[in-house]
This record gives sequence, C-alpha cells and structure tokens, in this order.
Amino acid sequence: MTVLITGGTGRLGRPTVAALRSRSLQLRILSRRPGEDHAVADLATGEGLADALAGVDTVVHLATSRSRDIEQTRRLLDAMRAAAVEGRPAHLIFISIVGVDRIPFAYYRDKFASERLIEASGVPFTILRVAQFHGFVTELLDAQRRLPVTVVLPVSAQTIHMPEVAERLAELVAAGPSGRVADLGGPEQLILTEYARQWQSARGVRRPIWTLHLPGRTMAAFRAGHHMPGLPGAGRVTYARYLEAGR
Ligand SMILES: NC(=O)c1ccc[n+]([C@@H]2O[C@H](COP(=O)([O-])OP(=O)(O)OC[C@H]3O[C@@H](n4cnc5c(N)ncnc54)[C@H](OP(=O)(O)O)[C@@H]3O)[C@@H](O)[C@H]2O)c1
Repeated sequence: MTVLITGGTGRLGRPTVAALRSRSLQLRILSRRPGEDHAVADLATGEGLADALAGVDTVVHLATSRSRDIEQTRRLLDAMRAAAVEGRPAHLIFISIVGVDRIPFAYYRDKFASERLIEASGVPFTILRVAQFHGFVTELLDAQRRLPVTVVLPVSAQTIHMPEVAERLAELVAAGPSGRVADLGGPEQLILTEYARQWQSARGVRRPIWTLHLPGRTMAAFRAGHHMPGLPGAGRVTYARYLEAGR
C-alpha cells in the first residue's frame, strides 16, 4: 500500500512517518522542499500534486497553512478525484481538532469547513479530531521562559503525546475509510496553571503563575471545555511523564 503524507515534515508529521514506516508501507512525503522519500508539491498552487498522488492508496492530510487550509484541502480533494483509478479515489485521512464545531476561533472554523468539504466530496474519508498536543502547550510555555512571570489562560486541557496520535493515524490507515471516528485526547484534564507548575518544575524555573482573563465567545467556549474529548482519554502518556522524558 502506498501512503502519501501531507505535512509529513511537520511536528506531527515526523512521528507519523515513523509509525507508518514501522508498518512497512510505501511512503511518500508531500513537501515543498526536496528530501528523502519526498514528493515535491505545493498545496497552495497545486504544482506537483498530480505526480505526488499517482498510484497512492491513502492520503494522510496533516499539512496546515494556518490561514489557507480550506482552499488547500479543496485543491487536494480535486486532485484526488482527478487521480482516481477506475472511478475510485484514494482514502483521505484528515486530522482535525476537538471542538471545531463549537469554538468560534478562526483557525477552528476553517478546520470545520474543511471537514464539511471532505464529507461532501465523494472521496472515501476518515476524520480524526484530536485534542491539543503536549508539545503545543510546552511551546507556548517555553516561549515565556525569559519572562519574570508565566501567564496562562483560565482553562483546562486534555493534551496528548504526539507519538500516540501518530500510532492512531497508522491504525486508521490500516482500517480503511471509517467516516468520523472517536475523538482522541490524553489521559487527564488539568488546569493550565497545573501545566505551568509542572513545566516550571521540569525546566528548573520558579516564577509567579498569572492567569489572564480574556472576554469573548471563543474564550467562553474554551472555558466550557469544548476542546476536551472527555475522560477516559485513549492517550496513556501524562504531561508529567512527557516532561520527564525530556520531550
Ligand atoms: N498543535 C496542536 O496541538 C494540534 C492539535 C490537533 C490537531 N492539530 C493539527 O495537526 C496538524 C499538524 O500540525 P503540526 O503542528 O504538526 O504542523 P506544522 O509542524 O506547522 O507543519 C506544517 C506542515 O504543513 C506543510 N505545508 C504547509 N504549507 C504547505 C503547502 N503550501 N504545500 C504543502 N505542504 C505545506 C509543511 O510542509 P513543508 O514545509 O515541508 O512544505 C509542514 O510539514 C495540523 O493540521 C494541525 O491543525 C494540531
């Protein structure tokens, strides 16, 4: 089976490529830059897309452009239909985010619109909504490392270890088109002040932790926890264990 991974060079893409490689699949990594096993293509222009898709059975769509995701997903779907063999397009697996239908954040709205495009496309699909990654929260905290305080929002999160998401994606490749599957999240829900406390302890940082209250419907939706899939989450690696492992 030949699998094309868009975004295979990204944060989630790298462990996903590793998980698929360990299953002895033929891999093609769609990237704008040349590299090992790369199919050079650009989702913003469509250049290289037809060649990248030739002979592909499954596409794992992880690429993100932050503001042009709808247009790029549409371009990918069009190219997949054009590359269909005997009228059958390849299977598309799309990574989405828990709560995209309930949180009015622009990036999430675009994800939800992309989900709807996929559902209406006639391309056989699987949609997996995932909670925030442990690494995402860590990047936000690491960016504050030199500040005299650590600032967090007054919300909880149910973050997950990226390699566990990658394993789930690999299972979904094997499963074939499954529609919208169960949301995926980590093993615990923690308030962000607790994430900050664990991060400070792992990094040897001691600072006051401040909570920033912001108005608006997006913040209200996060406070209501619409971005968390609920417990028990399928993920096993806690944030503390992830930090201990130094990742
Ligand atoms: N961060 C989270 O907590 C979280 C939670 C749930 C779901 N997700 C989703 O997980 C996915 C992966 O996120 P990530 O943080 O791993 O992404 P990332 O590290 O920012 O990587 C972005 C990827 O998109 C590719 N890309 C961007 N523009 C492209 C274009 N015009 N043509 C082709 N490829 C393009 C890049 O490939 P090249 O640069 O090699 O071309 C790169 O591999 C995203 O869809 C994100 O929404 C994230």
